[in-house]
Parts: sequence; structure tokens; C-alpha cells
Amino acid sequence: MKRKMKAAAACMSIMLAAQGIPFAPGVQAADGDILVTDFEDGDVSAFSKRGDDDTSVIAATTEDAHSGKTCMAVTERSQGWNGPSVSLEALGCEPGVQYIATAWVKMKWYNTVRLSMQFTDEDGVAHYNNLASVISQNDWVEIPLTKFSFSEGMKDVSIYIEGDDKAEMWVDDFSLTCAPVYPIEQDIPGLKDVYGDYFKIGCAVTEGELAPKSTKELILKHFNSITLGNELKPENMLDQKATLAYLEETGDNTVPKVKLNSSAKSILKFARDNHIPVRGHVLVWYSQTPIWFFNDDFTKEGKLVDKETMLKRMENYIKGVFEAIDAEFPDVDFYAWDVVNEALLDGGAPREPGSYEKNNGSSAWVAIFGDNSFIEPAFRYARKYARPGTKLYYNDYNEYMKVDAMIKMATDLKEKGLIDGLGLQSHLNVTNNATSDPFPSVQMYASALDKFCETGLDIQITELDATYAHSVKDGEKLQAQYYDGIMEAIAKHKDQISAVVFWGTTDDQSWRASETPLLFNEDYTAKPCFYSIIDGIDYTVTEPKTTTTTTNTTTSTTTTSAGQPEKTVWGDTDGSSEVNIMDAVLLARIVGDDQTLQPEEVTDAAKKNGDVTHDGRVDNADLSRLMNYLAKKISYADLIPQ
Ligand code: GLA
Repeated sequence: MKRKMKAAAACMSIMLAAQGIPFAPGVQAADGDILVTDFEDGDVSAFSKRGDDDTSVIAATTEDAHSGKTCMAVTERSQGWNGPSVSLEALGCEPGVQYIATAWVKMKWYNTVRLSMQFTDEDGVAHYNNLASVISQNDWVEIPLTKFSFSEGMKDVSIYIEGDDKAEMWVDDFSLTCAPVYPIEQDIPGLKDVYGDYFKIGCAVTEGELAPKSTKELILKHFNSITLGNELKPENMLDQKATLAYLEETGDNTVPKVKLNSSAKSILKFARDNHIPVRGHVLVWYSQTPIWFFNDDFTKEGKLVDKETMLKRMENYIKGVFEAIDAEFPDVDFYAWDVVNEALLDGGAPREPGSYEKNNGSSAWVAIFGDNSFIEPAFRYARKYARPGTKLYYNDYNEYMKVDAMIKMATDLKEKGLIDGLGLQSHLNVTNNATSDPFPSVQMYASALDKFCETGLDIQITELDATYAHSVKDGEKLQAQYYDGIMEAIAKHKDQISAVVFWGTTDDQSWRASETPLLFNEDYTAKPCFYSIIDGIDYTVTEPKTTTTTTNTTTSTTTTSAGQPEKTVWGDTDGSSEVNIMDAVLLARIVGDDQTLQPEEVTDAAKKNGDVTHDGRVDNADLSRLMNYLAKKISYADLIPQ
């Protein structure tokens, strides 16, 4: 085995290295490798077959190799899923950290080779997720660099390589490393503070995106609203197994069973622990809702139920979602819910009847109801079962193409007391089809917004992003100008608009990643469009100890007490009132006597809070205890004097 390092240590050192920080004496600089091997030493001990039913025999061989003379052979496989597996826990990998895996693989005949992940959820159910796939035709192929992470609720996590059939498999040049970690920029204003007097500033995030610590820090700094990107959608809330079991037991086919899965829980825990309000998304939608939900026997093959049955299912589903959330997350502030999503085509007609799984864009709701008459009962049930005070929205895209239809529908629902507002998705394009014309233009967007705001309904911008074709000259500059115009139009209506939510965090995580539509680069640096939308806004930061005032184009920041803590928060060296990786970074620099440190960073308060071993000095023992806490190996109580 060429290199094998405990994952927690490897990733911590990559975090420090990424920040150009000199390591404290005794802290080992490493490059984030966890298991990197070309098998030349014949060691295959980190790989095992996948349980007793797996017949694979795993051994080093010199019969074939991608590089050097030796590789790992996996012979006597009797099923496609048989294969070499690596236990992430055994390697010390941690939940919430991003990893990258790659390998060269060869399989006999023509085979799809997959890199997959297996884990057991909190209910003991095994899950198998494909991470990457390539085709081998009896030749060496590379499984490309694949980023992945896992969350706390996932147990017995392993990654493995499988194929379509039982053919022999050879693996070489396997590598599992920590993904590069970029620190967030601390010295820029937080968006939520800049727009603090205007509206909430939110972002959508999926469980995978939330894994890196820097993404969490980015959210804490800039956003005061979270939308779960996928995790609360029907396809993730519906539990087919429990639904079928209930049907068999009772014969009642009106009760779809609902549960929060571990991915939803992990984001909701983050929201709860950090007191971040959540936009619920989404209850009733034609898409990301499995077709079995609409079929008589709750199977994919069944026939659509009638309207009456579907109404009961809808009511039970909506009730089930609110109950599941209230049971486990009563403290999370769900201030808004999208009740119905995307029911109108441009121009305002209902969608085509059908199944979106077979025919993208078509709606099983319309297939059953014949038209959009399912919308009103959806709001009725949401009103009935949502916590009192929850604001309910109709959410749609291309809203500037359906202004009248959206307003008409919402006005009817408002008269009945069923709706509170409209969600305007705002998936925008700075350049359209590689020409430099935006769509919609800022004027088109602004005039639609004027009309929506005249209704007296609450308006939320729910999924904002603005793409540009990279072939266009000065695209990033155009994007900044466009965002500036759009945000100016939005800010004008601050009294009618209660939230502006971006659909994602960093560009690489966007659903439209290739056209970089968001405010932050992959390395978490702010893009020109970030600066263009804060420019000209007067704001005051209410966070402790730092006052930032921006007037027109100049920003001045006064930090009193150099941002250092006034009260003792053990572990909090940087005075943020939180204990996170940035504290370990500062402590490492202090312990390592980093000459580039500014006097205001090495304060008495920093040293006092950093002395988590309570022996009157800061040294490697403090750093190691703090890292152990951050790696969740010890509890916060271990940082406090006993
Ligand atoms: C729509 C949906 C969102 C999301 C985006 C694309 O706008 O409302 O939930 O799926 O598409 O990611």
C-alpha cells in the first residue's frame, strides 16, 4: 500500500495547507491522501468482498497492470454487485467531509463499471448510490475523479466497484483523498446583513452540497433562509414500502406514508442548530413525484386512481409531511411553504396530462383532475395542517411569461384566504443561446415584478440564478451588470418582497454549473456579481463587534476589539462567538508562531479561549484537543475546565 493515512488527520492538514498556514510543530503536513495505492507492494488488505454472499476472491496479481507490474484482481465474482469494497469508517473518514475517489479498472467483455456507495440508514435499511460509471470493453478505463460525502445518519458506509455481470475485474491506481478545502472570505460583508433592512436572503442547498465545512460557513455568513434543494420533495418524502405495507394490512389505498429521510434530517439539524429559517419546498408538483403515488395499487405499473381517491391521498400526504416535520423538528422555523409548484405553462394553460417519468413536462395531477382544479384543495389542506402562521405560496418559473395567469389564480385563492404569496423562481439568463441578449431583459423582469407586487400578495424570489454562456466576451462583467439591475428592481419593492433565495451556493454545485449562475466561485470567492449587488446599498452589520457601513461605492469597516471575544467561549480564538475550523486555523498559527499574524489576531482573549487544556499556555495539546472536538471525537464539555 503506497500511502494510507487516517482520514481525519489527512483532511485537517489539507484544510490548514489550503490556507497557506504554517503548521505548528508536531502537526504533520500532508496532502489529504487517505488510501492511495498502485498495488506494487502487493497489499490489498484495505479491500474486501461485499459480505458473505459475495464470492469474490481479491488478490494482487502481476498478470496485468495499468501501471507498474502489479494490480488487484477480483476473480470468482458470481454477481454484478460482487466487488472490492473499502470501508470508509475503517479508514477514519468523517461525515460531513468531502472526499474524492478515482481508480483505473478493467473488466472482461463489455461492462459498465460503477463506483458506488453503500450505507445503512437509521432504520437499518441498506442504500446503494451510484457515484460514477464508465464502460470497459476488456480494456483499462479510468473512473474519473468523483466527489462524494456522507452524513451522520449513514452507518457502515463503504465505496465499492461493481459491474454489469460476473466477469473478472482488475483495479489499479486507486486513490481516495480529501477534496481540496477552500476557506471562505471572512473580510467581505455578509449578504444577509447588507440586505438586513430589505428581506431575507436565502440559498437552496442539498445534503451533498452542505457537506464541506466551508459551505456551512458560507451559509452562516451570508444567508438567513435555507431551502432544501431536493430533500422535502415528494420523491424523497414518500415511503413506498410503508405505503404498500399499510395497504396490505388495511386495504385502504388512500394513505401514502411519509417520512423524513436522513438527508432531510441532516440539513434540518443544521438549520435548527444555527437558528436558520427554512422555506419548505414543495408539496404538490408534477415532477419529482413518483408515478406510483398516483396509481391504484401504489405500484409503478398500476392504473391512475380517480379524483376522489387522489384528493384523499393529497390530504393525507400534506398532513403527513407537516406531521413528520413537527415530530422531529418542532423548533425549525418553517416560515414559508411552496404548496404547488409549476402548474402553469407559459401563457397560463395547464400542463399536458401524463407521467413526467415517461414524458417530461406532463402532469399526473392533470391526468387525474382533467385540469388545474387540484390546486385549490392543495392550498386548503396545506392551510388546514400547516402550523398557524406559516405562509403559503404558489411557486413557478418563467413567471414573467405567465403574469396574468399567476395573478388571476392567486387572487382567487387569496379571496378564499388560502394563499399568502407568490414564489417567483427567477431562473434567469444573462445571455441567451450564446448571443449576448439577456432573457428576460431587466426591464421585462422589472415590469412583471411591478405587476406581481401590485396584487398585495407577499412576493418571494425563490430560486434566483442567472447564467451566461462562457463563449460570450466579458460574460462575467455582463452577469454583474445584469444581477445589479435585477436586484435593484427587487429592492425597489422591499415592502412587498419578504425573501430573495438563490438556487445554490457556489457555481460548481449549481444545477446550471456550466454557465456559472451564482454569486460565489467554486473556491468560495465572491464573484463580480456579488459585489455589484451589494454596491450602493446602505447597511449596518448587527453582528457583535464589527460595524460595516457602505455608502454608494465605498465600504468602510470598523472592527472594535479586533473581532476578539469579550467573554470566554472555550475554543473560540477568532472571536466569532462560534467554535469552528477557523478557530483551529488561528490557533495553529499562534502555536506555530506564524510571523504573518497581525497583533490584533494574537490577543489575550484568543490565547485564553484557545487554552482548552487549561494549563495557562497555548500549545499543540490545545490544538489537538480542539481538532478532536471539531472532528466530533470529544464533546464540547471536554473543552471546558472540569
Ligand atoms: C425547479 C424546481 C426546483 C429545482 C429547480 C432545478 O425550479 O422548483 O425545485 O428542481 O427546478 O434544480
